[in-house]
Amino acid sequence: MGFTEEIQRRKTFGIVSHPDAGKTTLTEKLLLFGGAIQVAGAVKSNKIKKSATSDFMEIERQRGISVATSVMGFNYRDKQINILDTPGHKDFQEDTYRTLTAVDSAIVVIDVAKGVETQTEKLVEVCRMRKTPMIVFINKLDREGKDGFDLLDEVEQKLGLSACPLSWPIGMGQRFKGVYSIYEKKLVLFNPHGKQQEEDVVEFNDYNDPELENHVGEGPAAELREELTMIDEVYPKFDKEAYLNGDLNPVFFGSAINNFGVRELLDCFTEIAPNPLPRETEERVIDPYEKKFTGFVFKIHANMDPKHRDRIAFLRICSGEFKRNTNYLHVRNGKKMKFPNPTTFMASKKEIVEAAYPGDIVGLYDSGNFKIGDSLTEGEKIQFKGIPSFSPEQFRIVHNADPMKSKQLAKGLSQLMDEGVAQMFTKEFGGTRIIGTVGALQFEVIQYRLEHEYGAKCSYEPLHLHKACWLTWEDEAQYKDFQTRRKRDIAKDKDGNIVFLAESSWQLKTMQENYPKIQFHFTSELT
Ligand code: G4P
Repeated sequence: MGFTEEIQRRKTFGIVSHPDAGKTTLTEKLLLFGGAIQVAGAVKSNKIKKSATSDFMEIERQRGISVATSVMGFNYRDKQINILDTPGHKDFQEDTYRTLTAVDSAIVVIDVAKGVETQTEKLVEVCRMRKTPMIVFINKLDREGKDGFDLLDEVEQKLGLSACPLSWPIGMGQRFKGVYSIYEKKLVLFNPHGKQQEEDVVEFNDYNDPELENHVGEGPAAELREELTMIDEVYPKFDKEAYLNGDLNPVFFGSAINNFGVRELLDCFTEIAPNPLPRETEERVIDPYEKKFTGFVFKIHANMDPKHRDRIAFLRICSGEFKRNTNYLHVRNGKKMKFPNPTTFMASKKEIVEAAYPGDIVGLYDSGNFKIGDSLTEGEKIQFKGIPSFSPEQFRIVHNADPMKSKQLAKGLSQLMDEGVAQMFTKEFGGTRIIGTVGALQFEVIQYRLEHEYGAKCSYEPLHLHKACWLTWEDEAQYKDFQTRRKRDIAKDKDGNIVFLAESSWQLKTMQENYPKIQFHFTSELT
């Protein structure tokens, strides 16, 4: 197969949802269709259960599972489909944001009973800002839930998407009869006690055909006709270009656990979802069809075995062909590196690959060279955009609790920050080290991992801050004045960028007003 065909058969996507909406279940059913796994239950949920916030063994176990399920590839209808797993727990949301930089499209799972939930709103917002094409799957139709039209309203109002139903449910819960596929013009009938069989699907070009009654009964048939007529009148017709531009969002209904409506979703996805897309760098746009290899690291995973401190850096290939044992430039540190064991992930199987193509994710064994956002190329100096750190919301001062191990502490903190577990800011005045995170769980993870992987101990001191924001300025005099007055609130991030640690939203607002020539940024991407 040629280079172009390799790219054109790849589809790399992520599933986003609020915990418990059914992401893991859906992933598993998709893998079953692809033949990547044989039995249900093979993909373990990698969510950290809400109750486990201080159960470190559970966190470790989950970390182990999440390496295995970080990327799951399978073949379906001649396509190579890569699913990137996104952590469900809200304290790991930043991980999810970063993973979303490595996908070309997303599937949003919504629980029919709960409707659109907060975490889905945040994640969809990130995708929307990047114009990532999204398909919505409304799950758990075997249960009672919200009315279909109300859900479409939520999708439009809360998620800011433009809903385009491509399937429509016939009843729900006890009365759930199946779905009508608007996309394929067929009736897919639900059998609550079995797998979806071929014979449960009836071609149905015209829903006004009186045959409909024979399949679903009189009442449901009348209701379905009325609703489909309304959809025809109110909702936009499917337009692939609009979907690919992020302006139209197909909506499917089904029940992942019953493997119902999943094939329709997958078939449509396979047909319409984008192939690897171009990626922006600070310097220029990288086209996947360019012959020279480029890629970036979006995730780093520490080895589970503390005796071997190597890590896996997950690299998204953006252009060209990546080859095993070939010298590439690590742009940030200017070093040439080659990788004898690049790994791909087909379901839970890890395999060493000779070559990988745009859209693929390879795992690179790393002894501490990489940090998130790093670029690898054949020599060109580029920096991929859109892999920012977000302004943290929780802060603590970190102290060394074992004076004999200060080197280990410094190394451990530095490597954990490279992995993106949290962010560290060092105050310009006094050198105090402050850790900022998006969620509280990371503080415990850091403490635990420092001790078990680096032999270092830390303690925390609470710190009440509103936000950390990155500063840029053109007017040096204005910054100098700010620096003199606010010197206790200024710190550097680990790349040396200047950060303002705002105590309150009021203080932040006042500073923004008093220093109009200083820009306050809420992500580390300072453009
Ligand atoms: P997540 O990854 O998004 O967090 O969700 P997950 O797939 O783990 O699903 C959350 C719960 O919802 C699970 O139940 C799962 O079985 C259930 N579920 C998923 N899809 C459907 C569906 O279509 N219909 C119904 N009725 N339930 C569904 P659980 O009791 O939390 O876990 P488990 O013991 O079943 O694994």
